Amino acid sequence: MLNAHFPAGSIFSVHIFLIPYLCHMSEMRKVIVTGGTGYIGSHTVVELQRAGYEVVVLDNLSNSERSVLEGITAITGVQPAFLQIDICDRQALTDVLLMHQDAVGVIHFAAFKAVGESVEDPLAYYANNVGGMISLLQVMSVLNMDNLIFSSSCTVYGQPEVLPVTEDAPIQPAQSPYGNTKQICEEMLQDAAAAGLFHRVISLRYFNPVGADPSGLIGELPIGIPANLMPYITQTAAGLRDELKVFGGDYATLDGTAVRDYIHVSDLAAAHRIALERLIEKRHATAFETFNIGTGKGSTVLEVIHAFEQMTGVSLNYRIVDRRPGDVEQVWADTSRANQVLGWTAQRTLEDMAASAWKWEKRRVESKE
Ligand code: NAD
Ligand code: WQD
Repeated sequence: MLNAHFPAGSIFSVHIFLIPYLCHMSEMRKVIVTGGTGYIGSHTVVELQRAGYEVVVLDNLSNSERSVLEGITAITGVQPAFLQIDICDRQALTDVLLMHQDAVGVIHFAAFKAVGESVEDPLAYYANNVGGMISLLQVMSVLNMDNLIFSSSCTVYGQPEVLPVTEDAPIQPAQSPYGNTKQICEEMLQDAAAAGLFHRVISLRYFNPVGADPSGLIGELPIGIPANLMPYITQTAAGLRDELKVFGGDYATLDGTAVRDYIHVSDLAAAHRIALERLIEKRHATAFETFNIGTGKGSTVLEVIHAFEQMTGVSLNYRIVDRRPGDVEQVWADTSRANQVLGWTAQRTLEDMAASAWKWEKRRVESKE
């Protein structure tokens, strides 16, 4: 041991002994989470805090509420640091990241995510999702910050020819401006990594995130009429919607309804922590890596409905209607790479997803009464 060369208790022995320890501690500690008050971000903050990380949340609250921080604190007993900023504001972002330059990594969730809205207002989506990413990458690069996890989506695959879909499947022309922003961001990351601006970047391609923390204290906060299946189911069960429309009953699937790979948001959150640790520990194989994050199992819309009914004892008023334009017939993940290379596997079942989503919905309804 180095300090053995100095008399016990001398200033040298204390410093030389402590410095590597303190550096290691700070190296292992702070993580920046953009979009950390959002749906997936808030569950990832919980996961990181539980693993002992200090989390700094950056969010402009454009699609989330400050009260989410109270939910996180109630679950973990730790209040995350919160800075309300727009990541597109490069000066504000620089000021904030300068204060937290010692962070071991950045998990980047902040983006707009509504497919339909992106068709109506594409420029807002390119400005926020692509503009926000450029701003983040430039500031991180100037400050020599590395270790970035990016929120990508299975939407980049469109309708794959081969199922389950692997990360090497061809990227299909985007079906929406939203989907295109994910493709553009992945390309930017690849180019920035190839140029040597970043050495460690992981893009996680999520399949269909659903469910909520088992406490029911945080969950998805859809604004207006939900576009996604699970919040529509829970709102119908809660009596907030009259009827659930099942889009399409004539697909070439088990029961004629479309197939997706639903993944519990807490499993997804764990994948972020594990991916970040791969980068921190420099176990990455290439500067830019991609991983599918799903269960590896497809479920039809009717299977989701029946799992929900069975789990909760609530029967749903649903009706099969025409297909929704733009929907793919079926997609589910080949998760071998995430399982073998990351060492991550989804743990929770469709029933867990339904039960937690319902607990969260009931809590929200009760809190409004
Ligand atoms: P969300 O809307 O709940 O969370 C995003 C958060 O980012 C919100 O809190 C919002 O206020 C914030 N934000 C948006 N623009 C910002 C900006 N310019 N500056 C600061 N904060 C900003 O969405 P989510 O479901 O948690 O999704 C997180 C990420 O995962 C997004 O990038 C989304 O595209 C991606 N993704 C989501 C899904 C899904 O089905 N939920 C699937 C695949 C990928
Ligand atoms: C799932 C299934 C619907 C609502 C979207 C985005 C994708 C990704 C995840 C971000 C489909 C059916 C739905 C309803 C229904 N997000 N459905 N009645 O479309 O797979 O993916 O979210 O990256 O980019 O496109 O998810 O939850 O909308 O639909 O029958 O009221 O449920 O047709 O088959 P989707 P979803």
